[in-house]
Amino acid sequence: MLPNDPVVAATERTRLEAGGGTLRSFALTAEPGTIDLGGVMVPTWTYGAAVPGREIRVRQGERLRVDVSNALPDPTSVHWHGLAIRNDMDGVAGLTQQPVVAGKSQRYEFVVPDAGTYWFHPHVGTQLDRGLYAPLIVEDPADGAAYDDEWVLVVDDWIDGTGSPATTPDTVLAGLRRDGMSAMGGMDGTAPASASEPLGSDTGDVVYPYYLINGRLPIAADSRTVRAGQRIRLRLINAGGDTAFRIGIPGVPMTITHTDGFAVEPTSKEAILLGMGERVDAIITVPPSTTPILAIAEGKTGSAQAVLKVAGSSLGDTGGALAKLAASVPFDSARAAAVTAVRLSQKAPDVRHELVLGGPDGQYNWTINGRGYDPARGLPVVQGQRVRLTFTNQTGMFHPMHLHGHTFQVRPTDGGAGPRKDTVLVLPGASVDVDFDADNPGQWLTHCHNIYHGEAGMMTVVSYMST
Ligand code: C2O
Ligand code: CU
Repeated sequence: MLPNDPVVAATERTRLEAGGGTLRSFALTAEPGTIDLGGVMVPTWTYGAAVPGREIRVRQGERLRVDVSNALPDPTSVHWHGLAIRNDMDGVAGLTQQPVVAGKSQRYEFVVPDAGTYWFHPHVGTQLDRGLYAPLIVEDPADGAAYDDEWVLVVDDWIDGTGSPATTPDTVLAGLRRDGMSAMGGMDGTAPASASEPLGSDTGDVVYPYYLINGRLPIAADSRTVRAGQRIRLRLINAGGDTAFRIGIPGVPMTITHTDGFAVEPTSKEAILLGMGERVDAIITVPPSTTPILAIAEGKTGSAQAVLKVAGSSLGDTGGALAKLAASVPFDSARAAAVTAVRLSQKAPDVRHELVLGGPDGQYNWTINGRGYDPARGLPVVQGQRVRLTFTNQTGMFHPMHLHGHTFQVRPTDGGAGPRKDTVLVLPGASVDVDFDADNPGQWLTHCHNIYHGEAGMMTVVSYMST
């Protein structure tokens, strides 16, 4: 069923009628520019000369219209990560649309079906690992009851425009391809090799010079002035290309309320593990004095921070807090439990697809079921089916596996109610079952959200068949 199938438009009409469909219009320009990370200037590509780009905020059921202009030298597209929208607006160049070529523009317009914390980024090559990303927040009428204020925190690993000659994500990928496996042993500076729990010993393919929260280095951290005792909803987004983050606030437990936009039974944790593409919402109570929010690059060297500023105190040394966070046991949000209202019905899968994650094989190739990306050889499903995907990781590295157009439910082996998510960490040697209802016809990419793995082949398509 192709993106332009009448069934796709019919599905959208149903959503429009259900949601009311108030139109909300935004404009977005993808453009080259030099950005200040906090004393470090880097040439990069951005949305509207800011990193992250300015947040888009709408309400559930509204019709979002975004006019995207491409002022980049290359073709681009915009993907609305996590939203179950109409297939022809999903923004996957070469699958759901032609890329938007340099100098041209495209209108995206769709009904926003679910509330939550989402984000957007290009779906062309490695562009996501430049500065092209921004939050997309969908408000729920019920929001705000359990907290006083909110703060969106986007964590990122940064290499674009650094070094001389300047490194870009394209040169990083070319280097990985050129050097193949030899680049992954940590011998030539392109691969970190520090052991780490819980990701295993291989925590990434790329050494990043910087880690950021909201586009800022720790030395020039983004901050928010708050009052002791206030409850703040943090919306955490990992926009990294190759880095999972361990996020924590010294002495302040975080009550996790949502995973990838969907509500979970609240659970209090000291540290959260956030893979690339994942989001977690957590409510905190502001402590009596100024406190950093820390994001350690998991298994790598470096960290990012933001600051909760409380009047009458300034930020102290963060060394002790970083060491404490490094010694913590971070919580993988795949272990949370969906609230009853968002659980899928108990139903046996009508169809099962196994996705064996493999690679690399001496070359820098990452595979699903032994093959690189071939949109013509996807995973067939039929509208109305309950579908189970089983991700089985036969590699030595973790893979945050993402499905477009649906929010699956993780099915823990102990039979508990796993969370609704669209991106799930699959650790080395592990196997993860996820279920979804095939209720959004089209061609939907499923892939590793490590941008380099995805580009090197770890992508396939959940493909609705015409009946
Ligand atoms: Cu965040 Cu295929 O995308
Ligand atoms: Cu991967």
